[in-house]
Amino acid sequence: MVYLRLLKYPGAKFVVIPDIKKVFNNSHCNLFIDVFGGSGSVSLNINSPNTVYNDIDPQFTNLFNSIKYKPGTLYEMLKEEVASEDENSRVRTDPHRDSDTGTGGRGEVRKTGKAGTGSGLSRVLSEPPSNSSGIIDPLRARDTMVRFSRSFGGLGETYGTRREKSSNLYLKKTLYSFGKIHDVVRKWQIENLDFRVIIRKYDSEGAFFYFDPPYPGKNWYNYNFTESDFLDLADFLKRVKGKYLLNLDADDTSLVRIFGKPSLIRKYANQNGPALNRRDMMRSRSFYTNVDQ
Ligand SMILES: C[S@@+](CC[C@H](N)C(=O)[O-])C[C@H]1O[C@@H](n2cnc3c(N)ncnc32)[C@H](O)[C@@H]1O
Repeated sequence: MVYLRLLKYPGAKFVVIPDIKKVFNNSHCNLFIDVFGGSGSVSLNINSPNTVYNDIDPQFTNLFNSIKYKPGTLYEMLKEEVASEDENSRVRTDPHRDSDTGTGGRGEVRKTGKAGTGSGLSRVLSEPPSNSSGIIDPLRARDTMVRFSRSFGGLGETYGTRREKSSNLYLKKTLYSFGKIHDVVRKWQIENLDFRVIIRKYDSEGAFFYFDPPYPGKNWYNYNFTESDFLDLADFLKRVKGKYLLNLDADDTSLVRIFGKPSLIRKYANQNGPALNRRDMMRSRSFYTNVDQ
């Protein structure tokens, strides 16, 4: 299955998507709420008639708002970034390059780029409605995309170097499918709220909540989870009017104490980084749901 991909993000749930789809379809709900949306891997590929994307980290809501409302500007900025990196790597590997003159560097390429023009996407650029949440800053969105396309572990911190041959490849692939990504994102409601607030805002009979919270004990994100966050989530699951699917790391037994016995446990190939040994090649996920299977 070919999925739309935007960022290299730790904990992105591509392998789980077929199972999420199955439960969502069985729920007969018409609103999919991606409470811990992160890279958007699930919202981008769930094919829901109505989607609410949410994450508490404002860099992601800014990114998706920029794709929704300023696609032409962001597309041109990314194209310029890719061209600049290609030029830099050409200059770095050119044996005849005079290192004293240093021509062809990043600054020069940027100056020749034409931002915000030429793309068919700029034609669909529309102004955001006054009730859209979060700021919209395409320059910051470009930086988020570059960081999460070139970082090694998808943690958005370590930039790719010449040794990482694919440093520009991921961004090029994203640019190739940018139109399709925009086509999905333009229909989303984008929110930048804490999970407790988003639940209160959308809970109703036709709502389906997908919960993919941060992993306990792993500080991978700008916003992580404490035990009291998990306790609040467990409390919500007891009172929810809508349907839900929660996935957790099945190997973390401390979560069973809070959430009880899961509805289902499944094993998936580990796609987050190279497997160090046979045990690392598979990941067990536990699922909790109130949808009849
Ligand atoms: C496991 S990741 C989600 C990954 C996502 N499903 C994907 O495929 O990319 C957890 C996400 O929860 C977000 N988060 C952390 N605390 C939150 C909170 N209190 N409310 C909403 N989102 C939160 C983090 O910023 C992070 O992006």
